[in-house]
Amino acid sequence: MSSTPTATDSWARNAVVYQVYPRSFVDSDGDGLGNIAGITAKVGYLHDLGVDAVWLSPFYPSALADGGYDVDDYRDVDPRLGTLGDLDDLIAALHERGMKLVVDIVPNHTSNRHRWFQAALESAPGSPERARYVFRDGLGPDGEQPPSDWVSHFGGPAWTRVPDGQWYLHLFAPEQPDLDWSNREVHDEFLSVLKFWSDRGVDGYRIDVAHALTKDLSEPLRSKPTVANDATPETGDDPLFDRDEVHAIYEEWRQLFDQYDPPRTAVAEAWVPASRRVLYARPTELGQAFNFDLLEASWDADTYQRIIDTNIANAAESGATSTWVLSNHDVVRHATRYGLPAGTDLESWLLSDGKSAEEDPEIGRLRARAATAVMLALPGSAYLYQGEELGLREVADIPHDRLQDPMWLRSEHTRKGRDGCRVPLPWTTEAPAFGFSTAEAHLPQPAWFADYAASTQIDDQASSLSLYREALRLRRSLSAGETLTWQEAPAGVLRFDRTDGWSVVANFSGDPFPVPAGEVLLATQPLSDGVVPANTTVWFAPEAQPRD
Ligand code: BGC
Repeated sequence: MSSTPTATDSWARNAVVYQVYPRSFVDSDGDGLGNIAGITAKVGYLHDLGVDAVWLSPFYPSALADGGYDVDDYRDVDPRLGTLGDLDDLIAALHERGMKLVVDIVPNHTSNRHRWFQAALESAPGSPERARYVFRDGLGPDGEQPPSDWVSHFGGPAWTRVPDGQWYLHLFAPEQPDLDWSNREVHDEFLSVLKFWSDRGVDGYRIDVAHALTKDLSEPLRSKPTVANDATPETGDDPLFDRDEVHAIYEEWRQLFDQYDPPRTAVAEAWVPASRRVLYARPTELGQAFNFDLLEASWDADTYQRIIDTNIANAAESGATSTWVLSNHDVVRHATRYGLPAGTDLESWLLSDGKSAEEDPEIGRLRARAATAVMLALPGSAYLYQGEELGLREVADIPHDRLQDPMWLRSEHTRKGRDGCRVPLPWTTEAPAFGFSTAEAHLPQPAWFADYAASTQIDDQASSLSLYREALRLRRSLSAGETLTWQEAPAGVLRFDRTDGWSVVANFSGDPFPVPAGEVLLATQPLSDGVVPANTTVWFAPEAQPRD
């Protein structure tokens, strides 16, 4: 008997999803800004890489106050990036090659240029237009103090005053006013947006700050004077984040998603404790939640093992699989993280333009390769970030007058922000923009990008690109079972078996470990003298055990 498919048997369960940051991927029209047609031109590259789906960071009309996470219109494409027709072409090109498209949905806030916010500004306090956002009177004699001590994730107060004296809430930049999800109109609007894209053929959604939508707005507003997106308690009773009520929203979304064939998928971006994260991933809700534990992990075997165990167990409990992420558009690239001395404070390092600690690109390269090969060997879904397949490092020394991240300005130059991982990709070694564009790129690319150009890696068996392609090819052909069994290994080494005779040894920092008997399927660096050296991962098919 066939039954309606749900998130429990979704294509996304074990998918490899490639994140494209559209303005920095490929520029096909020569204005220095990446665009949709540029992505379509690279569908062959993505197919050859071997990913199952592409996740597009926001491509909507936007003033780019926060890299596009300030959306003016949820049903359109930024004219600088193309048209709705271009997006239809991209969907068709991906589908033709058997790949899916996931788009970013930003439901916590709109941009301040969104028609709703413009209407709110033109309307009186207490009006239905203002009730879609969080407007409040201020404190103090003339209401000159913000309504609460809440702070913006990018620095400064989370409240901005408008000319008539009221204040509005923005957990991120002032150009990103928070919506009020206790208003039914907001729910209906996002259901309609999700239907709009699902009807156009979009296969899934990445839900931006999924844990922030419902807030405790009862008076007096509760105190929370810490950085807004900080880890939240496990109680579900933080005033701003991860409140229990948020799940009703995603249950309603799931009902919509399941009306499609195949059901639309979704992944929550929710910076919450592991035990709470999986609530968003329940089959009755989004089906997946980002697990950022590896992205925050030091290069250490025990840490990796603990993270892997916890997340596989938690995911199983929720009926989902785990997700795995090493890099994305918000963090220092993992080839750089693993090339910095242990314990380096990344914010301070960025602030020093990469001078406060010395990066060892070779160690970073080896560890990034080894980490990636561990991640891609895990059951569940892996999310890759554009450029990591090239082994790209962080650009830590972008001239300050070229920085775009609101974090830099809003923090009064005490936090550098995330531009260093958003620099347009090097496709070739050619000027002026390494094949990204025929114009200068919107964020400056360093000369050393030439060493990472895709064109020089494509035919080089030892390159990072070749490793990713081979790992993804093997991953497809090997068992897609969802179990992992640990085998004994000395300190500093992880060893596990996947279903159907596929095994993995990852030597983090231990002594050289003997290459296990069997066929080596993949090695992140050459194996000589019969040993797996430190900073190396090997996939192998163990020798068949003699049967009794
Ligand atoms: C996105 C960020 C963005 C923020 C506000 C996130 O978590 O990944 O890039 O700045 O949401 O929308």
